[in-house]
Amino acid sequence: MSAVLQPRTELRPMIEADLGEVLAIEENSYDFPWTYGIFRDCLHVKYPCWVYEVDDEIIAYGVMSIGGGEAHILTLVVRHDYRGQGVGRMLMSHLLTVAGHAKVDTVLLEVRPSNNAAISLYQDLGFNEIGVRPNYYPAHRGRENAIIMALALSQYDQRFQH
Ligand SMILES: CC(C)(COP(=O)(O)OP(=O)(O)OC[C@H]1O[C@@H](n2cnc3c(N)ncnc32)[C@H](O)[C@@H]1OP(=O)(O)O)[C@@H](O)C(=O)NCCC(=O)NCCS
Repeated sequence: MSAVLQPRTELRPMIEADLGEVLAIEENSYDFPWTYGIFRDCLHVKYPCWVYEVDDEIIAYGVMSIGGGEAHILTLVVRHDYRGQGVGRMLMSHLLTVAGHAKVDTVLLEVRPSNNAAISLYQDLGFNEIGVRPNYYPAHRGRENAIIMALALSQYDQRFQH
């Protein structure tokens, strides 16, 4: 009989020593990636920053800010080779749970109108479009608008929580 080895997974707070791995994923994921300094600042101001590891390798991370009864999802990224397997949904659900524990009412985020995968995920979790921030994102030609999406946590369907 052969034993099937299950991958070891861990969802844990990000630490500064993770930033090398996080930046490698970030730079692979975006044309206009966050810098080391941005991530470090998020850690220093104690924003909730989480990583998800499989067999001791970081394969996803998410960062949000919380204040004044609102949470703002600042970034959510799954490493390319792990996309489409439910990791983004799991990590986003975790961030919403963390926000819920912090007594947040509303969760906000911005997303590029061209980012169909992210928009589908957010809609699926119950986010609605509430507006547009013109010229929000850098783009190869000029700038791109952001769609602003919001979720009232009271309406968040508990069945999405892991
Ligand atoms: C957006 C992102 C985080 C989604 O993570 P993921 O692990 O691939 O997503 P999941 O496998 O958990 O999928 C959850 C839902 O997202 C949507 N989705 C995911 N990939 C999709 C795709 N390629 N096209 C359309 N919808 C997609 C679907 O609604 C999916 O639900 P389903 O599996 O029931 O169909 C990931 O694609 C990513 O890291 N992209 C690059 C960084 C980024 O754009 N982050 C968001 C910034 S606002």
